Amino acid sequence: MEKEIDWKNLSFGYMPTDYNVRCTYRDGKWGEIEVSQSPYVEMHIAATGLHYGQEIFEGLKAFRGKDGKVRVFRLDENAKRLRESAKGLLMEPVPEELFKEMVLKVVKLNERFVPPYGTGASLYIRPVEFGISAQVGVKPAKEYTFIIFVTPVGPYFKTGFNPSNICIMRQYDRVAPQGTGRWKVGGNYAASLEAGEKAHELGYSAVLYLDPKEKKYLDECGPANFFMIKDGKYTTPASDSILPSITNKSFQQLARDMGIEVDARHITVDELEDAVEAAACGTAAVASPVGEIDDLDTGKKYVIAKDGKPGPITTALYNELRGIQYGDIEDRHGWITFVE
Ligand SMILES: Cc1ncc(COP(=O)(O)O)c(C=O)c1O
Repeated sequence: MEKEIDWKNLSFGYMPTDYNVRCTYRDGKWGEIEVSQSPYVEMHIAATGLHYGQEIFEGLKAFRGKDGKVRVFRLDENAKRLRESAKGLLMEPVPEELFKEMVLKVVKLNERFVPPYGTGASLYIRPVEFGISAQVGVKPAKEYTFIIFVTPVGPYFKTGFNPSNICIMRQYDRVAPQGTGRWKVGGNYAASLEAGEKAHELGYSAVLYLDPKEKKYLDECGPANFFMIKDGKYTTPASDSILPSITNKSFQQLARDMGIEVDARHITVDELEDAVEAAACGTAAVASPVGEIDDLDTGKKYVIAKDGKPGPITTALYNELRGIQYGDIEDRHGWITFVE
């Protein structure tokens, strides 16, 4: 008999599931959706995805509600963002309808891996697209493979919904000023590994990147966006070098719903001085409250969570978002798609 899954103690890691779904763009069109039980791909050794970084991905989640129903959060937004990433790297954009059909299919096929309600876990959905045609010159591929796999996950940060500390290190950039930061491109993550590992070694949960041009404004927080509460407003960086986070966008809407003003603009580093709450936000992390931000270049320490606890607005936003995702709160903005 198969080992039972310990839903309450899942990490944010990979666990094999039953199926993945695949589709290939060839001869100017997308083919049929294939269902695979293999976690491997066979590809040409000269594929552009391997050599020239023609690789993009997405990350979204499915949640099981009290009613047992499975809900996918903001399917359309992820479909759209993958298309934007594809356009950025001259890849073939996956049609929105195909994206949605494949997500719903792969979740349905792996329904037994959607964690039970009340465990705090969810099913992480990972769409990935890459160039597969053989090319030695630096040119976009003519053929692309799009795959979606799923894996059940627990919380991203080990500290859960508790403040953790982050740091600023000016010697590292994730992306270039007019580069690929606004797209979900594998290379951005490769470029962030050294800084991320260094931050972890020093005891920080993530790096708070500054804008790569002037190193004057806040950008984002490792694999998550950043927001803070300042002068009673939900304040978040507007920048061309950050990924437009769907979680951040959702929090902005929820903040407005709560009567909180949203201030999305360039934020200078010294404005951290006036932040009364701060958090990293993203699909994986949801909202991960920030305790302290240490600027490792200047030695300045911005203590945000003075009592060591998440702030009231961050907590309210977190609860509201989780409530909608798990079906405990009405989906008043049409963010949920049920897996039938
Ligand atoms: C660089 C980066 N920024 C922000 C986010 C958060 O985006 P979202 O809320 O859409 O998951 C992610 C994760 O997806 C990310 O990798």
